[in-house]
Amino acid sequence: MIKVIFLGDICGKPGRKTVEKVLPELRKKEEADVVIANVENIAHGKGVTEATVKEIMSYGVDFMTSGNHIWQRNDFEVVLSGEYPIIRPLNYPDDLPGKGWGEIDLGNKGKLLVMNVMGWWGMNERTLSEPFRALDAFLRNINLQDYKGIIVDMHAESTAEMVSMGAHLDGKVSAIIGTHTHIPTADERILPNGAAYITDVGMVGPLNSVLWVDTDIIIKQNMYPYSLHHEIVETGPMRFDAVVVEIENHSRARNIRRFNKIIT
Ligand SMILES: [Fe+2]
Ligand SMILES: [Fe+2]
Repeated sequence: MIKVIFLGDICGKPGRKTVEKVLPELRKKEEADVVIANVENIAHGKGVTEATVKEIMSYGVDFMTSGNHIWQRNDFEVVLSGEYPIIRPLNYPDDLPGKGWGEIDLGNKGKLLVMNVMGWWGMNERTLSEPFRALDAFLRNINLQDYKGIIVDMHAESTAEMVSMGAHLDGKVSAIIGTHTHIPTADERILPNGAAYITDVGMVGPLNSVLWVDTDIIIKQNMYPYSLHHEIVETGPMRFDAVVVEIENHSRARNIRRFNKIIT
């Protein structure tokens, strides 16, 4: 059995500081084998820098996934060069830096394969290829038996597309975990063919915000035709959303549990 803690999108400095406060104790209490986090928002809400990757790893994050915001800082070249355990969605074009998958070697517990894919619905990303075929093609070309566990981070806007992907991959991977909306869903469960599933884990970041942005800014953005600079909410209560998944093998999980905490 491999026990994984998976953290929803970590947002800027308030998110990183919340990880520092909550994760070490949670990791110890759960006796987790590995901690994975979506980090597309760790650098002041947009993108990833080398410094923030190093910082988040120092708090006990072993492996990182991302999404559409990964390209918003020039550091993506360095961060995705292969030096750091971070991946980007696999359905972006091959000539971009980085890979859509990575392995975590857990010694005598075996190897864990982590994949990252982005949904199509509502994403407005013209360079993405269709995620279902992209994942099918990837899975066809690997030897599933090489892995003790397989986790897919699907970074998607639409709940219906996420649920469809869960059903599509059930029986083929150990867990399908949603990220991107920053809103935790209460539908975590083991699917009929054995895969653990949740539509969206949620986020680690400011509770009284829109995703992580100051609410007044986003209200104005909804009411007026011009766009405004997005300021991150640095103070107030912070939410820490994660799931704990117990993986049995490459196509089965024993259990998935939510861990949602608000710290003041
Ligand atoms: Fe995000
Ligand atoms: Fe995203």
